[in-house]
Amino acid sequence: MQTNPFKPTAGKTPPTIIGREDVLEEFSEGLANGPGAPGRLMRIAGVRGTGKTVLLDECSRLAQSRGWTVIKEVATEGLCQRILEQLQPKFQAKHARFEPTVAGISIGSIDIERIGPSLRDAMRQTISKNGNGLLITLDEVQDAELDEVRTLSIAIQQVIGEDLDIAFVFAGLPSMIESIINGKTLTFLRRALPFDLKAVAVTEVSYSLEETIEASGMELQPGIAGQLAEATQGYPFMIQLVGYYAWQLARRAHTPIIGEEEAERGIATARERFCAMVIEPALQRIPPTCIAYLLSMASLGQTSSTSMVAGALNKTPQQVSSVRSRLLRESIIEAPSYGKVSFAIPYMRDYLYEHKAELEVEL
Ligand SMILES: Nc1ncnc2c1ncn2[C@@H]1O[C@H](COP(=O)(O)OP(=O)(O)OP(=O)(O)O)[C@@H](O)[C@H]1O
Ligand SMILES: [Mg+2]
Repeated sequence: MQTNPFKPTAGKTPPTIIGREDVLEEFSEGLANGPGAPGRLMRIAGVRGTGKTVLLDECSRLAQSRGWTVIKEVATEGLCQRILEQLQPKFQAKHARFEPTVAGISIGSIDIERIGPSLRDAMRQTISKNGNGLLITLDEVQDAELDEVRTLSIAIQQVIGEDLDIAFVFAGLPSMIESIINGKTLTFLRRALPFDLKAVAVTEVSYSLEETIEASGMELQPGIAGQLAEATQGYPFMIQLVGYYAWQLARRAHTPIIGEEEAERGIATARERFCAMVIEPALQRIPPTCIAYLLSMASLGQTSSTSMVAGALNKTPQQVSSVRSRLLRESIIEAPSYGKVSFAIPYMRDYLYEHKAELEVEL
């Protein structure tokens, strides 16, 4: 029998990338169809654990398999400089070397603008030297300095304008990605083909779990695939956790069959891990006013009206609008339609419900 095929770790490619064919097809077609194809400029938004990093990695693999040069970056400070450094050894043009510091003065916003032309030249030369294209992926865009993203996107836009083979795919949390693309002079990024990562259909999850488990030498009792899939709520990180623990419990019991007991205990362990790794850290980052708002939401349902949430707190919607905005910005809640809010993370409502008393003590 093989090792556990599931990968419940951030950024790790799962055994099967479920339900993201649209993104990957569009990107592949973009590579094939040449400059100007929509799949060459894409943005991927999703809450934590929906599979953004995994998709960026898969796009990288697709590009590499066509002989493209790939640069994978995370949008932290010094982004443009790091991209330039990775591009430069590839064409060794001395004149394009950019010196970021003068006598120890660190790089500032003026330097960031000055780096633009070097960046553009380095991209051009990498493409013409290799004879193949260049893909840049950018993760965690919500953390980016606007100046840096602007400089990078202007350089990319210029290279695209020259009909060269370049692709740019960036990913981030839904609300924060909005503020990046709506920033001044970033209209170019606003035109990127948008993908909003949502839950995967439970039937697809069920089918895929069955396939992965069988390929690993285990079997599932009839009906168990559906039960496991239901518990994941179609949320990619939960798919890996549920698959991993159900599989591992059968292994520990020295049985090749995942039955009722393994499924139930696997789901329970997966939920515990999910709370510890996703829900609790998310709650620890926010102030008591936000927790109070969430508790009020939890008492009403998965989706509720903003005026009822405020009413349950004896406030007007205006009085709690900054709290609501903060929760939206953190991607803990979503606004599915006007005047409504819902939980963006699965099991968040259940967690709040179960821990109501202890959370209220801290308010
Ligand atoms: N399409 C998918 N099908 C099945 N599992 C997936 C899929 N996408 C991601 N996963 C799994 O979900 C988990 C989270 O994936 P990933 O780290 O890419 O999410 P993310 O959106 O980048 O999260 P974060 O915002 O925290 O960086 C990983 O364990 C990964 O293996
Ligand atoms: Mg990620």
